Amino acid sequence: VAIGREAEATFRLLVESVKDYAIFILDASGRVSTWNAGAERIKGYRAEQIIGRHFSVFYPPDVAATGKCELELEVASREGRFEEEGWRVRQNGSRFWANVTITVLRNPEGELIGFAKVTQDLSLRRAAEQAERTLAAERAALAERERIQHFQERFLAILGHDLRNPLASLDMGVGVIKQRTTDPTTLRLLERMGSSSQRMSRMIEQILDLTRIRLAGGLQLNPQPMDLREALEPIVHELRGAYPLQEIEFKYEQASGSWDRDRLQQVFSNLISNAILHGVKNTPVHVDVRLEQSVVHIQVHNEGPPIPVELQSELFNPFRRGARDSRTAKTAGLGLGLYISRELVSAHHGSLDLQSDATSGTTCRVTLPRTTVISR
Ligand SMILES: Nc1ncnc2c1ncn2[C@@H]1O[C@H](COP(=O)(O)OP(=O)(O)OP(=O)(O)O)[C@@H](O)[C@H]1O
Ligand SMILES: [Mg+2]
Repeated sequence: VAIGREAEATFRLLVESVKDYAIFILDASGRVSTWNAGAERIKGYRAEQIIGRHFSVFYPPDVAATGKCELELEVASREGRFEEEGWRVRQNGSRFWANVTITVLRNPEGELIGFAKVTQDLSLRRAAEQAERTLAAERAALAERERIQHFQERFLAILGHDLRNPLASLDMGVGVIKQRTTDPTTLRLLERMGSSSQRMSRMIEQILDLTRIRLAGGLQLNPQPMDLREALEPIVHELRGAYPLQEIEFKYEQASGSWDRDRLQQVFSNLISNAILHGVKNTPVHVDVRLEQSVVHIQVHNEGPPIPVELQSELFNPFRRGARDSRTAKTAGLGLGLYISRELVSAHHGSLDLQSDATSGTTCRVTLPRTTVISR
């Protein structure tokens, strides 16, 4: 197509003055031979600084080293054009995200005379896209958190009311019928129903605690000035009643402090029951309290085969139970006792450990600071 000289000059002016695109020509070997205002703006070089240099200077050095530039020219000459989006480098070394088109230029005889290269700086667009993606991800995360929170609240409500309440009324019903019955078979049955519902409500309480620890931000303590005896004696008494043949030796040294009594009872109830249920039948269980300056040590000891060392720390994980079966399936728990106990002792800023070996049996040792300041 023949165009007039004037039109050609106008066209050249147009290309030279375009600011949004770098438009320039590479000779057949890839050296820059023209430059426009957009190229200067985007890439940073002035015409006299760049004309004659190979266009690989526009690529990150590690990319240029792979022979990518030569490959692009090869593709352009074979297929007529090459296009991609990728990282390019400005004169000052900073990178920008670019859309690049390389078009082959041939004379009327079909000989390759060079390449036209158009580069657009997409950094702004890319940054906007990235910001949009981040925003979308944040929104999704928020929605997910809300969904989980809703689920947690529902779950806690089910455990706390929907399951607990009917169980309480069953338990009450059993108690009322028991008082009106003299038939020994019925009484035995009611006895069993009563202890089943008690076991079940204990399990519900444990699952509630687990949910509070894992999902609802932890267990709340309500520490009050008290004597440790208030936490231990009722439990020892209760367990002596529940296991009349079991000897429980209780050695006590007066220890006052600031603790959550109900929660400590829960800890000792589990530790002493563990010693009774998982220890050797008809051997005494020892409960010792020892004061040491600002801390109290409480030890619960039972005899029995040692717990393998590798299992000892495992037992503190939720639902983790020992290899051996407990005495009877009836007394089998969920395996949450030690986990919750340790959480409760930690909430008091204390520690709970277990030691077990062949000569001395198994000992659970609780160390409590005498004052618990709850920081929330
Ligand atoms: N004093 C102990 N002597 C021997 N084994 C023990 C003792 N205490 C705990 N274990 C082992 O650790 C396991 C976990 O104890 P944990 O109190 O967490 O659960 P559990 O007693 O089985 O059930 P629950 O949730 O009702 O307490 C027990 O199943 C038992 O195998
Ligand atoms: Mg237990």
